[in-house]
Amino acid sequence: MDLQNELTKRAEMFNTYWQQYLAIKKPTKLYEASQHLPAAGGKRIRPFLTLTCCESVSGDPTKALPLAAGLELIHNFTLVHDDIMDHSLLRRNLPAVHIKFGEPAAILAGDLLFAKAFESLLKTSVDFQTYKLLQYDFIDGIIAICEGQQLDMEFESRKTVTEQEYLDMIGKKTGALFELAGKGGAMIGGGTPPEVAALKTYGMTLGLAFQIWDDYLDMSSTATTLGKDIGNDIRNGKKTLIAVHSLTHATGQNKKHLDEVFGNHAASEDDVALVYDLFRDLGSIEYAQNRALALVNQAKDALKILKPSDAKELLYQLIEYTIQREK
Ligand code: IPE
Ligand code: IPE
Ligand code: MG
Ligand code: MG
Ligand code: MG
Repeated sequence: MDLQNELTKRAEMFNTYWQQYLAIKKPTKLYEASQHLPAAGGKRIRPFLTLTCCESVSGDPTKALPLAAGLELIHNFTLVHDDIMDHSLLRRNLPAVHIKFGEPAAILAGDLLFAKAFESLLKTSVDFQTYKLLQYDFIDGIIAICEGQQLDMEFESRKTVTEQEYLDMIGKKTGALFELAGKGGAMIGGGTPPEVAALKTYGMTLGLAFQIWDDYLDMSSTATTLGKDIGNDIRNGKKTLIAVHSLTHATGQNKKHLDEVFGNHAASEDDVALVYDLFRDLGSIEYAQNRALALVNQAKDALKILKPSDAKELLYQLIEYTIQREK
């Protein structure tokens, strides 16, 4: 099984599905702004996770498509608002929604995507009791994202944040949706309670590692490869695990440079590059990578109870991909 092929296959399922929810209507600008990110692509990891977790418990993935699409719509909604909050200009190699359409339309486009996600979820064909449980989880997942994003913003102006606070924050802003994809896919697939619990754990631990890696890419990649602004986390003073580690270990000249550049919106590219070097020299990047590794090992362990299948094999491959990806 080739992960990239299988990712593309499932992304195509989503690509032909989402458009029914966002057909252009009046006021045109609102719908164009809402289509901007879904149409721009993205890795589609969350739909992949939902469909593949459903398959891994011998379920029919087409039954999980409304949830998969709902989760990707929620994800896209959070990206639209996140780019406003993070002062980001670029997303999926295109201007961010608020840059292209202005902030009012971007806020509303996010809201529309949010509503459309529920419309998609509503199409899930399972018994009423399972649907109700799914909808509660869906709501809880979105509440977690709001809490996580609020903490992420509050941490910008905090001097220090503990590792546990960081993990709690990313568990909410990123882990929750991965968890929901794993658990929800398994529920729709008719998984046994231990299987559902295992895929829930798999989703959360994978999501945590995914965000640690995203934080690393923000400082190490290029805008063309990533399709997003680079160095923004350093300029915004984001308390990533890498930064948290350096903030507690830097001394002398290093500490002085960190104090000057970290959280400085006007920092030059050279200054940001020096902070990256500093993070590396203080061992903070290696530290974060080891934490990500430990988390994906937990994700691997969680999969052990599943019966052997192609889908299970893909879930293992997704783990490796998460901490090796270049974008
Ligand atoms: C970006 O998510 C936001 C994070 C939670 C790190 P992705 O890296 O999945 O973004 P797309 O969907 O591929 O653009
Ligand atoms: C955002 O994390 C997670 C969301 C819930 C949107 P980031 O702010 O790091 O995501 P990117 O790097 O902008 O994609
Ligand atoms: Mg953010
Ligand atoms: Mg961001
Ligand atoms: Mg990021």
